[in-house]
Amino acid sequence: ALERAREAMARLVVDVPDFPSPGVVFKDVTPLLADHEALTAGVAALAEAGRDDDGATTVDAVVGMEARGFLLAAPVALALGASLVPVRKAGKLPRATHAVSYSLEYGEATLEIHTDALAPGSRVLLVDDVLATGGTLRATRELVEACGAEVAAVAMLMELTFLPGREALGEVPLTCLTSV
Ligand code: PRP
Repeated sequence: ALERAREAMARLVVDVPDFPSPGVVFKDVTPLLADHEALTAGVAALAEAGRDDDGATTVDAVVGMEARGFLLAAPVALALGASLVPVRKAGKLPRATHAVSYSLEYGEATLEIHTDALAPGSRVLLVDDVLATGGTLRATRELVEACGAEVAAVAMLMELTFLPGREALGEVPLTCLTSV
């Protein structure tokens, strides 16, 4: 699955220069989502991050970060037989939340999780499409820990290695299907 996923990503992820702002090259994964075989291989490869060598599921929950993370976390959770938990941008979750704010290049962003979304002590796999500065990942990790749960592993389609995103992880294992 990993080789097929890598080949599909090289072929299907589109670089869009100067989106959403000048100088930024946006990684558009929508062509990969639209290709059934590519998405199947990508989801299977991400799900491996939540399995041991015997193929047994090692996590209780899969957390997806809004919005593109949702598209990948849901099928990964189904593949693993784990629960699915969304981390959302501020003001979207209807009940009591934990919130973490972090700085962006311009301004601030806030992410939230329902306070009862994860059982204390549960093991969590974080899933998203792209690891860039690591701000989203760092905030999500804090939210998981605020629930009393633990980030066991992180799986991303792609890592931008010219940015320090990986530092947000500490010792947590990171699976990235491709690096650019
Ligand atoms: C993108 C991407 C990651 C995040 C990575 O989401 O899907 O979640 O940025 O960047 P970082 O490592 O610098 O935090 P975005 O905030 O564009 O949200 P969207 O998926 O709702 O468009």
